Amino acid sequence: METLIALCKRRGFIFASSEIYGGYNGFFDYGPLGVELRNNIKTVWWRDMVQRRDDVVGLDSSIIMHPNIWKASGHVDGFSDPMVDCKESKLRYRADQLFASEVYLDDSFAGYVVTLEGADNSERKKLAKKIRNLKGNKQAALDENKLETSSIEFTELSEEQRKKSLGPDANELGTLTEPREFKLMFETKVGPLADESAVAYLRPETAQGIFANYKNIVDTGRVKIPFGIAQIGKAFRNEITPRNFIFRSREFEQMEIEYFIAPDADWQSLHREWLDTCIDWLVSIGIPRDGISEDIHPKDKLAFYSQATTDLMFDFPHGKQELWGIACRSDYDLTQHQTHSGKSMEIFDESSKQKYVPHVIEPSLGVDRTLLAVLTAAYDEDEIPNDKGTAEKRTVLRFSPKIAPYKAAVFPLVKNKPELVERAQSIYKQLQKRWNVFYDASGAIGRRYRRQDEIGTPFGITIDFETLEKDGSVTLRDRDSTEQKRLSLEELIHYLEEQIEG
Ligand code: GAP
Repeated sequence: METLIALCKRRGFIFASSEIYGGYNGFFDYGPLGVELRNNIKTVWWRDMVQRRDDVVGLDSSIIMHPNIWKASGHVDGFSDPMVDCKESKLRYRADQLFASEVYLDDSFAGYVVTLEGADNSERKKLAKKIRNLKGNKQAALDENKLETSSIEFTELSEEQRKKSLGPDANELGTLTEPREFKLMFETKVGPLADESAVAYLRPETAQGIFANYKNIVDTGRVKIPFGIAQIGKAFRNEITPRNFIFRSREFEQMEIEYFIAPDADWQSLHREWLDTCIDWLVSIGIPRDGISEDIHPKDKLAFYSQATTDLMFDFPHGKQELWGIACRSDYDLTQHQTHSGKSMEIFDESSKQKYVPHVIEPSLGVDRTLLAVLTAAYDEDEIPNDKGTAEKRTVLRFSPKIAPYKAAVFPLVKNKPELVERAQSIYKQLQKRWNVFYDASGAIGRRYRRQDEIGTPFGITIDFETLEKDGSVTLRDRDSTEQKRLSLEELIHYLEEQIEG
């Protein structure tokens, strides 16, 4: 993760927000390359999930909506995380991300060490040694096996057990508080009045904008069951512990679909179909299939309205974590809005001649998490020969051409031959009309290739003397294999078209 963060900063993908003021935890800014990558991910998702499907239409709803929407959806009362404070370090943790491990010294129980999800054994050992010091017996033998294998959810600990626990950043036992619910929605005030009636919320998900507009789309569009409404947009959550770079932030973007189906439809099969569609899409943008797994939520952990939820997990640098949630939410949301708004959410199904409130399958994906997955999958280090033929280490981002920030870079072989530069400029301008391409005339050609490798540009196009003197052909260098081939301009454009738009 540290390597990725450093590369993102160095090459202008992602910056910490408000960096000149010391940063702002949980917020990020996307630089020139980051914004291209991000836009490409969204454009390809929209193209594949909306424009290339006959059964999904798009929407762009407002970020701040009537507060009753969040009352109806259950967010005002229920959208919170259990939070734990450390009275000593003043740090705050999400209770469901804390795990306690037993510390045994000279075979007798000495307390618990509490670490954050994903912590390794060395962190547990460090805390266990603090307990040993507190007990005043530095020579006592620590049972490492117990420490490694015992893991109790913090939320399951009794008050007595909490008193014997050492927090992740504490030096004394018993400084962690009982878990309390912490509301995740950001509040704001709308209009000139500053009283309670002006309270509104920044949306914590884009989904409710879809449910709130479902009636408009049914009444005005020519949709028929089953159909989906898709939306891409910002969401805000006052996360207790924004962590792991852009994985969990307080301002992020979602790409969500609500797919409306008949109440008696075979929702299990449709759920499976959506899971497969989502996996195929991730693979199509360069996420390796073997880095994706499925986490089926156990029945007893499902939200009361959910029939089934499966998360697509990805092997992020900080461990296997949720990338895409695909939930069957029954008719819960529409029925809630029907009750709270007094407006019917029923649809007349022409094929079955029935009127009903549809059920819904919801694939919900974060743009930022996808970008982190894409960066993780693309990052590589290998060795290739330099201009003198000696092997040199290179850093390469193996982005799929579909989402790469720059699709190609155009290089005149040398910069002091006006005819060469002129031809390179003309090809560059021609390609620029269709794609985001880069022009670079400075430095040895090998160095220019490597600068592009590091930012994931899949193709290098070199204009040399053969281009001018013979047939106008150019050299195309492939980033991943570093192989080069000569192509006519026509062949080049056809090849790029296939790779980028295919
Ligand atoms: N409408 C359902 C919903 O919002 P969720 O599991 O809370 O479900 C869906 O969020 C997706 O949004 C997640 O799988 C993740 O990709 C992304 N996401 C959620 N919280 C996030 C955060 N704090 N930072 C970045 N992405 C987040």
